[in-house]
Amino acid sequence: MAHDKLTVAVLGPGGVGGLLAALLARAGHRVICLAGDTTAHTLRTTGIHVRSPRYGDFTTPVEADTELREPVDACLITVKHTTLDAALPRIPAPALGDALLVPFLNGVEHPTHLRSRYRPHQVAPAVIRVESTRVTPGEIEHTSPFAEIDLTGDPVPRHRLDTLAAAFTTAGLTTRVLDDEAAALWAKMAFLAPFALLTTRYALPLGDIRTHHRDELTALVAETAAVSRACGGPADPAEALARFDAFPPGTKSSMQRDAEAGRPLELDAIGGALLRAAEQHDVSTPVAAKLVRELKEAGH
Ligand SMILES: NC(=O)c1ccc[n+]([C@@H]2O[C@H](COP(=O)([O-])OP(=O)(O)OC[C@H]3O[C@@H](n4cnc5c(N)ncnc54)[C@H](OP(=O)(O)O)[C@@H]3O)[C@@H](O)[C@H]2O)c1
Repeated sequence: MAHDKLTVAVLGPGGVGGLLAALLARAGHRVICLAGDTTAHTLRTTGIHVRSPRYGDFTTPVEADTELREPVDACLITVKHTTLDAALPRIPAPALGDALLVPFLNGVEHPTHLRSRYRPHQVAPAVIRVESTRVTPGEIEHTSPFAEIDLTGDPVPRHRLDTLAAAFTTAGLTTRVLDDEAAALWAKMAFLAPFALLTTRYALPLGDIRTHHRDELTALVAETAAVSRACGGPADPAEALARFDAFPPGTKSSMQRDAEAGRPLELDAIGGALLRAAEQHDVSTPVAAKLVRELKEAGH
């Protein structure tokens, strides 16, 4: 990845992937979206249309295919956990070559899964803070005033991360390269797990959770911080609680929105992974266990 303009594949051009694909393409990079037949056809025909308070209203052409067939500099993985295994055959290891593989999924377990399937040093997990929705294939609505990426990858050569981060930055995405992969992934998880589990379990926005379920929120934030600490991540429950208190009261989690829409939840990747990490490190998480159990009993 020595040159300015990269060739980037995007597996799963949805809320996150569609936004990244469109911004990179608009900045002059070659972008190949990898999707099912219908979505690939739509993207080839209409390009990607983004509506965003931050980036404006624009349409950009992209290439699209149903699988990776040529060398790229990086392949972004932006499917949900629930479709990851079904989607990965679209990235055959021989076609990927030595390209960076950059998963943007929430959760903490997928990097290990990807490293068992591809070369460990090419997997560079990213964390993204954004609110972006795929309204229909090729129609992306970015609603947050921010779009921030933390790019990591302990075994990945630093210059490769820097080159990709520079491409994201010039495309308009606020990007940092962080040294500690576990810390970066757990920093997101420590907020996301309590947020997602409580708002989805009670079908209430964050304002009602922090008012009517304060004790459970406080306990769950403490449990998650303890697991994060055991896994090498940040652990400041007071700071996490202050972040919950700072959000607008109507804020909903994406897991909650998935539940409302009847879509499969990333419950195993968030709640399940939290419980597995807790068990591995002998951390007690009764509130998290109860919420995950109740969500499963509710059919999720
Ligand atoms: N959206 C956000 O604001 C946000 C913020 C932070 C983190 N995240 C995380 O980012 C990840 C992606 O979330 P998202 O909201 O972007 O999901 P999404 O909008 O549902 O997009 C997922 C995309 O994956 C595609 N897909 C599904 N199965 C596929 C398959 N077998 N082969 C190829 N493509 C397939 C879908 O294609 P079709 O279009 O054809 O259905 C869709 O375009 C999740 O882990 C989420 O937790 C999301």
